[in-house]
Amino acid sequence: MPYGEFDAERREYVITRPDTPQPWSTYLGDLNFGAIVTQHGTGYAFERSAAKGRLLRGRFNALPATQPGRFVYLRDRASGEYWSATWQPVAKPLGEFQTRTRLGTGYAIVESRYREIASELGFHVPLGARHEVWALRVTNEGAAPRHLQVFSFCEFTNDSNQSQDLVNLQYTLFIARSYYRDGLLLQSINEAMSEVGAVDAHDGADQGGPGIWRFFTQAGADPAAYDSDRDAFIGPYRTYANPAAVERGQCGNSTIYGGNFCGSLQTDLALAPGESRTLLFLLGAGDETVARSVREGYLTGGWERSCAEIEALRRHWHGKLERLQVRTPEPAFDVMANTWNAYQAFINFFWSRAASMVYVGLRDGLGYRDTVNDIMGIMHLDPVLAGERLRFMLSGQVHHGGALPIVQFNHRAGSEITPEDPGYLQKTGYSKYRCDDHLWLFPAVRQYLCETGEMAFLEEVIPYADTGQATVYEHLRAALQFSLNHLGQHGLVLGLHADWNDCLRLGETGESLFASAQLYLAFTLFAEFAALGERPADRQWALQQASDLRRRLLAHAWQGDQFVRGFTEAGYTVGHRANREASLWMNSQAYPVIAGLISGEDADRALAKVEERLATDFGVMLCHPAFREYGLPVARMILYPAGMKENAGIFSQAQGWMIQAEALAGHGARALRYYRSINPAARNDDVDRRLVEPYVHSQFTEGRDSPNHGRAHNPWLTGTAATVMVATVEGILGIRPDYHGLRLEPALDPTWKAIEIRRVFRGKTFHIRVENPAGVESGVAELHLNGQRLPERFIPLAACRDHNEVRVVLG
Ligand code: GLC
Repeated sequence: MPYGEFDAERREYVITRPDTPQPWSTYLGDLNFGAIVTQHGTGYAFERSAAKGRLLRGRFNALPATQPGRFVYLRDRASGEYWSATWQPVAKPLGEFQTRTRLGTGYAIVESRYREIASELGFHVPLGARHEVWALRVTNEGAAPRHLQVFSFCEFTNDSNQSQDLVNLQYTLFIARSYYRDGLLLQSINEAMSEVGAVDAHDGADQGGPGIWRFFTQAGADPAAYDSDRDAFIGPYRTYANPAAVERGQCGNSTIYGGNFCGSLQTDLALAPGESRTLLFLLGAGDETVARSVREGYLTGGWERSCAEIEALRRHWHGKLERLQVRTPEPAFDVMANTWNAYQAFINFFWSRAASMVYVGLRDGLGYRDTVNDIMGIMHLDPVLAGERLRFMLSGQVHHGGALPIVQFNHRAGSEITPEDPGYLQKTGYSKYRCDDHLWLFPAVRQYLCETGEMAFLEEVIPYADTGQATVYEHLRAALQFSLNHLGQHGLVLGLHADWNDCLRLGETGESLFASAQLYLAFTLFAEFAALGERPADRQWALQQASDLRRRLLAHAWQGDQFVRGFTEAGYTVGHRANREASLWMNSQAYPVIAGLISGEDADRALAKVEERLATDFGVMLCHPAFREYGLPVARMILYPAGMKENAGIFSQAQGWMIQAEALAGHGARALRYYRSINPAARNDDVDRRLVEPYVHSQFTEGRDSPNHGRAHNPWLTGTAATVMVATVEGILGIRPDYHGLRLEPALDPTWKAIEIRRVFRGKTFHIRVENPAGVESGVAELHLNGQRLPERFIPLAACRDHNEVRVVLG
């Protein structure tokens, strides 16, 4: 059953039934200030780090799910009845309580109606701001005057360190105070700490400093009363659904001296028939001066300012998304490619795996492989941002070429300790090098060079994480050397801690097929970079290495229609065709095609086998049959029941590679079939099975062996956003930027007769029309640029104007 619909025009998802199987969320803000909000106003807010800069509390695994949050209670003074502007937490019966939520790019607006009172409650973080705005408009739609009371509520942490706030109560319940000054609610933490005492408040935290201040305030009316003691506002043995202050119709002007701080301001409103009033609630980190200046901006014309801020967010985001727009015969494909997959890719880019309803924020930094992948997901939409992050990640590479498993948000290139140092484990929770991290740099660097044309990037000097510095080109050579220094007995890449699959521990001296295929690709790309820099000897060396590696791979790991997945330290072959468990793996079929390791009939056989053995209606399983016996220490996925996550689940990130491999092999029909099977938008009507948000990809879907096959989990923060985006743009749409122009090789569903694409590339716009009169899956028969037929499937940049009309005829 659908719980909402896409408004493609406005780039919004509109939740029309608030009782979704789980609360559905979206993200506000950017790297300065982030927030998560659901249609119920639940979710949390943080400054810079969800782990160490937490402002609003989130209780994980809570019931009701995702509470607390940002609540606005409305109370009718005459009857004493109250409800909330979002359906939860008071949860009036649906039918009497009407509501819908518009989730957009950087904002959420909840429109509700109860007993002839209409409310609109919007949540956003203005562009570049460090505060959150809730914009409330209440309208009396009835014929009689009404006397209403508005009570806002949100629950702050007592400590910016999220885990301390939740578990170290003997400390955190006694460090905060609150003040009410002229309509401002202020929370102080460790207030007596002077500049002199600016030490870490507790181990591992980098907050410390001279006390911390947070604020909650409003503009639009002076509060009639307030509460800042959560327990006073809610009252004993009550919940967010029936706070004592709301039931009574009166806040108690409470402050805290130790205890839990909340932001609640009470406003009494008299509304004539048809009359509307607006209130702006503002929260953030900062002392009284900051709070006053934030409020100042909304004191006159606050509602208009808030609307303008939302418009600015829309313009900002839509402007980015406009760089790639597509129209195909499939709206569910378009809405993902044009808006939601792209927005999700940016959210992953910002928050990595550190802030969601499932990620607590404890990974206080950027996982290397995850982040380099995330970069690739936004390259076509924001190459500047992508380039900054790419430089940052290069500075997370150690001088010997390996990469730090995690680059912390406060990374200091040039002086970081590395996994060789026991302190690294203590500092980050990670101890060892992965065999794949540094290898993701190669496709990412190529993508950056081709997107921007800045070939000088290769000569740019960037520090190593620990010591020294080198050009990007030398960083890449060091990365290759790191892999060459870590080859196993078959001459393949050693497993080290793990490859992309965190659950597969081939062991320090085991060997990984996936990482070996990546290394093969890395050599071929390095050969291209060498050619760009006119280094023929390097080019020759890299090509020779690639061809030697390919020979070893084919000799030891290829079984005619499949690759094995790896060799363990103990000599067991993972993914051998004769194995009883996990005898076929998706990654070791798909990635060799992407890497160019196999092509033609070999690729066709490898891919056909995946369809035959691993494909389901909900996507392709990562491997099969699931592990049930062979387990630790190698196959850690046995920790999960069969069909779950890496244990023969449908791991969404890898679906992107599968789709891309099919598209590169020219199999448009299969690429689209796989795309559809995991496309959340295509399952908008099947939400009771999937449960999660139909507008974003989830980390995984349960595989065929699960009794809940098709149920999806962990929405938003997943590498899927990037891999599926790349598969969409470079694979299916076939727009492949090259060093000196654009290559066009779409792989389409044969029933698609025509598609239209708009792409901005190196400052020029391309309007591309792909025609498919013969109903083929791929193959460019004709390519026309501005009315001229081109000899190849390539558009040389030198022949392009500012605006270009491109016609591609498949056949
Ligand atoms: C998770 C991790 C990612 C890993 C993947 C597969 O998504 O964040 O690093 O590659 O699982 O195990």
